Amino acid sequence: MLTESGSRNSKISVVIIDDDRNILELTSLILSKNGFQPYIADRANEGFELISRHSPELVLLDYMMPEMDGLSALQQIKTRFPDTYVVMLTGKGNEEVAVELMKSGASEYILKPFNNNNLVERLKNVLRIREIELHNRELQKQQEQLLFEIEQWNLELQKRVREKSEALQNVQGEIIQSEKLAAMGYLSAGMAHEIRNPLNSISLFVQLMRQTTTEPDQLEHQAKILKEVDRIDSIIRKLLDSSRRNRVISSNVQIDQVIDNAIEAFSPQIESRKIQVDRLYHCIPPPITADPTELGQIFTNLFLNAMDAMSRGGRLAIEVFEKDGRVVVRVSDSGTGIAEDVLSNIFEPFFSTKSRGTGMGLPVAQRITRMYEGSMEVEYSSPEGTTFRLEFPACQ
Ligand SMILES: Nc1ncnc2c1ncn2[C@@H]1O[C@H](COP(=O)(O)OP(=O)(O)OP(=O)(O)O)[C@@H](O)[C@H]1O
Ligand SMILES: [Mg+2]
Repeated sequence: MLTESGSRNSKISVVIIDDDRNILELTSLILSKNGFQPYIADRANEGFELISRHSPELVLLDYMMPEMDGLSALQQIKTRFPDTYVVMLTGKGNEEVAVELMKSGASEYILKPFNNNNLVERLKNVLRIREIELHNRELQKQQEQLLFEIEQWNLELQKRVREKSEALQNVQGEIIQSEKLAAMGYLSAGMAHEIRNPLNSISLFVQLMRQTTTEPDQLEHQAKILKEVDRIDSIIRKLLDSSRRNRVISSNVQIDQVIDNAIEAFSPQIESRKIQVDRLYHCIPPPITADPTELGQIFTNLFLNAMDAMSRGGRLAIEVFEKDGRVVVRVSDSGTGIAEDVLSNIFEPFFSTKSRGTGMGLPVAQRITRMYEGSMEVEYSSPEGTTFRLEFPACQ
């Protein structure tokens, strides 16, 4: 019995479309006898319905039909049912017709009248070719799928390499930053001695001056000078050897008080430049675990920069609030702002846009913030001013 390979129990289906009933019956008989399963239709549309219902391997199609010519019927079948192969039956035997039919997708054409053996033999040939072509098509599909998968893998690999390179670059950046900070520690160790001597002299002279005046204004100014000298001294000590220094860690540091103390040190600039200071403390913030002097330095450095950016006055706003178990501080000034092209450099040690800047303010502030598991970033900057945002974990 003739069957399609792979499905041994089912017969090969053939739809025969011809307007000549005699041919239909005769062909159908020949095919049945040779193990095919024929379906017959005497009109093209009926034939399409049969094809759609039975998905036959082959169609035998008459070239000359009254309602629809065989060529358009052939084209429709090839478009709608690409796996069905079409063998044309034609009474016209010229080459032109043959070429036209083959171009339009016919697999074979058979001249009428035909004899039985010739018909069956030629259909078997078409079936063999069909099997090979369908198999090839399947292989091609698999190949395309494989190529697609390889392409996806390539993209994925490229993405991973890119991510790893970026991570590596970030790590390198951090290494450079910490090397610069280490160099800064080394430099400050050398400088400390040089600075502390003149500081000591300033302190002594001011103390002498205090003994010769009773003027309250002067006494107050001198007291402030001494306080600032002390602060410089403590900063130098800190920079000198932060590991050797015993930090005075308290678990009860009120950040609003630390900020108030830092602002206090700037009262001369605030007064002389008529800077408006707004303390927007929205709550009594939960305490922070830190060394209050070190924490104060963060704000001193931020306020120093804010003062530099507001040489002709302006507004300094400090906002304190709590969010998701963290204490948030926003420090805003109405100064000149940070140019976009330097924004990514400002936390780098020694980076400064000021003629007399050392570029140590922000990296030191950031290092202290990180030490207390906090974060610090520029939230906003424009020619109208800058806002820094800091966050610290609150004590449980
Ligand atoms: N509030 C601000 N407004 C405008 N620019 C700022 C502000 N804060 C920082 N910057 C910019 O960031 C740079 C780095 O600041 P940083 O405090 O680290 O160093 P510096 O102020 O230049 O020098 P130093 O603080 O060591 O004396 C500054 O030179 C300045 O360009
Ligand atoms: Mg600074």
